[in-house]
Amino acid sequence: MMNKLFRQSHLANTLRTKTIFRREFSTEVKDAFNNIPQGIKDLTSRKIYKTHNHPLNTLITKIEDFFLNKKVSDLQIPGEKFKLFQDFDPLVKVKECFDDLGIPEDHVSRRVTDTYYHNKEIVLRPHTSVHQIPLMKLQGNSAFLVVGDVYRKDTVDKTHYPAFHQMEGVRTYSLKDIGAKDIKEAKLITERDLKQVLENLARNIFGDVEMRWVDAYFPFTEPSIELEIFYNNEWLEVLGCGVIHNQVMARAGKDINNECGWAFGLGLERWAMKLFDINDIRLFWSQDDRFINQFKHGEISKFKPYSKYPACYKDIAFWVPSPVSDDTFNENDFFYLVRSISQDMAETVELIDTFTHPKSQRVSRCYRINYRNMDRSLTNEEVDALQVKIRGLVETELGCELR
Ligand code: PHE
Repeated sequence: MMNKLFRQSHLANTLRTKTIFRREFSTEVKDAFNNIPQGIKDLTSRKIYKTHNHPLNTLITKIEDFFLNKKVSDLQIPGEKFKLFQDFDPLVKVKECFDDLGIPEDHVSRRVTDTYYHNKEIVLRPHTSVHQIPLMKLQGNSAFLVVGDVYRKDTVDKTHYPAFHQMEGVRTYSLKDIGAKDIKEAKLITERDLKQVLENLARNIFGDVEMRWVDAYFPFTEPSIELEIFYNNEWLEVLGCGVIHNQVMARAGKDINNECGWAFGLGLERWAMKLFDINDIRLFWSQDDRFINQFKHGEISKFKPYSKYPACYKDIAFWVPSPVSDDTFNENDFFYLVRSISQDMAETVELIDTFTHPKSQRVSRCYRINYRNMDRSLTNEEVDALQVKIRGLVETELGCELR
C-alpha cells in the first residue's frame, strides 16, 4: 500500500497499448488504452467509505473532526474553515492527474501496467492529488480535504488491493495572512505549519506516539517529506506531503510571489488497518456481516478475526518470451491478469521458482496462486475453471509458453 508511484523514477518506459479485457464503462469513447476490467468497475460504485459503521467511515469522521473542530496549529487564519469533499468521480483526466502535477510522460505511474485507463485521456485516479488544482482554482477554497477511492494495478497480497482510499489535505495562505515579509520566509512558515498540523493530527488519532520526518520526492511538492510514527513496535510511514510546488500554485491561478501552501496525502486503509487491527486489506470490501457488525460508527475498536473459508492453491509454470526483458514480460501484467480473472479470489500470487535453461537460455517461472473467498467456500470446479482461464490467457495475452 501507499505505493511509491509518484516519486521520481529512473526507469525509462514506453506506454504499451495492450488491450486485454476491454469492457464497457462510461459513455466516453474507449480506445486501445482501455484496461479496466469489470471487477474494478464494480468497485467504483461500492462507496464503502460512506458506509455507516465501516472503519474507513469512522476514521474519516475522526480526521474531519480534527480539521473542522480543533486547533490544527499555531497559525490562526481569520475566516478559514476546512471543507470536506468526497463525491468526485474517480474517472479523471490524464492531464489533471499527471501533467498538471508535473508528473512526466515517461513516469512509471503512467504506464498501462500501473494505472487503469479508460482511454488515452481518462484514467481511474491513482491518487486524490488530482483534485488539488481544480479545487484551489475555485474561490474561497484555501483549506480543504478530499476523500476518495483510488485505483492502482499492483501485486496481490494482504496489504495490496487494486482499490483503496486516500485523503488529501490542502491549506494555502497569503504572506499577509501569516505575517511573512517575503515568499522565502512564507515557505519556511508553511513547512513549519505543515509539520505541526500533521503531528497534531497523528497524535489526535494514534495517541502519544513517537514520530520522525523523512525526506521524500513528489513532483508536485518542494520540499517533500514523509511522516513516520512508531506504533505497535514498528516505524510506519503514514503520509506524504510537502510545500506546494510553484508550478502547481501557478496552474491553480495563485500569485507565486504572494501565496503559498502545503498539501498532504494519506492512505486511509493503512491507518485503519493499524487502528482497528485489520490484518487483510480485502476485509474492508467484505460483504460478510461478521465484518461490519463488529463496528460502531465513531468508535475505534479492535477487529476479531472470524474463521476463514478454506484456501486452495494451484501452480502455473511457463517460459517467458525471449529475449527476457521488462518489455517482453512484465510481472504486473501477470498479476493483473490473475486478478482480473479471479476477481477477489486470488489471495496471494507468489513466484516460487525461476529456471534458466542451460542450453537455450530460456527462462521459466513458476507462480503459486492461492485462492480463497472471503465470504464463502470455493468449489474445486470453480478454482479449476479459473486456473484454466488464466493458463489460456497467459499464452494468448502474455505470449508465454506453458510448461
Ligand atoms: N499523491 C501522493 C501519493 O499518492 C501523496 C501526496 C499528496 C504527496 C500531496 C504530497 C502532497 O503518494
